[in-house]
Amino acid sequence: MKLDKMNQYVRQMSVKEKSPLPNHFPFTLPIIQKLGKLSFHPNVTYIIGENGMGKSTLLEALAVALGFNPEGGSKNFSFSSYATHSNLHEFMQVVRGSNRPRDGYFFRAETFYNVATQIEKLDQEPGSSRRIIDSYGGTSLHEQSHGEAFFAAFMERFGGKGLYILDEPEAALSPIRQLSMLARIDELVEQGSQFIISTHAPLLMAYPDAKIFELDAAGIAETRLENTQHYRTMKQFFEDRGRLLHHLFQR
Ligand SMILES: Nc1ncnc2c1ncn2[C@@H]1O[C@H](COP(=O)(O)OP(=O)(O)OP(=O)(O)O)[C@@H](O)[C@H]1O
Ligand SMILES: [Mg+2]
Repeated sequence: MKLDKMNQYVRQMSVKEKSPLPNHFPFTLPIIQKLGKLSFHPNVTYIIGENGMGKSTLLEALAVALGFNPEGGSKNFSFSSYATHSNLHEFMQVVRGSNRPRDGYFFRAETFYNVATQIEKLDQEPGSSRRIIDSYGGTSLHEQSHGEAFFAAFMERFGGKGLYILDEPEAALSPIRQLSMLARIDELVEQGSQFIISTHAPLLMAYPDAKIFELDAAGIAETRLENTQHYRTMKQFFEDRGRLLHHLFQR
């Protein structure tokens, strides 16, 4: 059963206090200063925008506030390769629903390699009864291609009735795989899951029952797929590649 406004897992996020440390990252980011209240869609919410706008910072703060490891993984994962995460979560207000997810995952493309290494390490420790890698389909994530390993997480590890926070899940996926990912999202949404996804891929942004928030220097605004910068740039490319390249190369 799809989630709705009454039973979604996470409803809203906002920054609690106005710039407690105004001269320190992440409070220096315009997007954090102008965040206001972000109300999530019960099924799929996209957070999009240019490189460096603060999407990963926001998703990480949300994930950590909800009890996930800042480098990603499921809730019982706790490891750190680098202590680079921000303290934004301490100043965030996250409004959860009354319904608790049965599954959860914070997927970060940029640190998934570290999650894979951590799984191998834990599985080598004596005494653990069930191998973690079995919940990812059984094949070492390091022995699969970049995209195959991502896909193993989405197809095998994600189990439904879950809260899934994904940061650039398309990073290793071909266009066809991005569409398969969309189909997988639909399956999991039908099984009572909620997604919050940061992505640069217009294909992956196309889930029909979704909210899209676009971040830019002016702040954060809800928009529709056709109006996003990502979609418009791709459209220009497909409609008149010669013209776009002409401007690009200043010939
Ligand atoms: N630990 C840090 N200390 C200081 N500045 C940081 C830190 N981490 C990120 N930043 C800066 O904050 C800004 C936002 O970074 P963030 O990773 O959230 O961007 P993003 O929107 O996810 O970008 P991308 O699309 O490239 O993934 C960037 O300009 C970055 O340089
Ligand atoms: Mg990012």
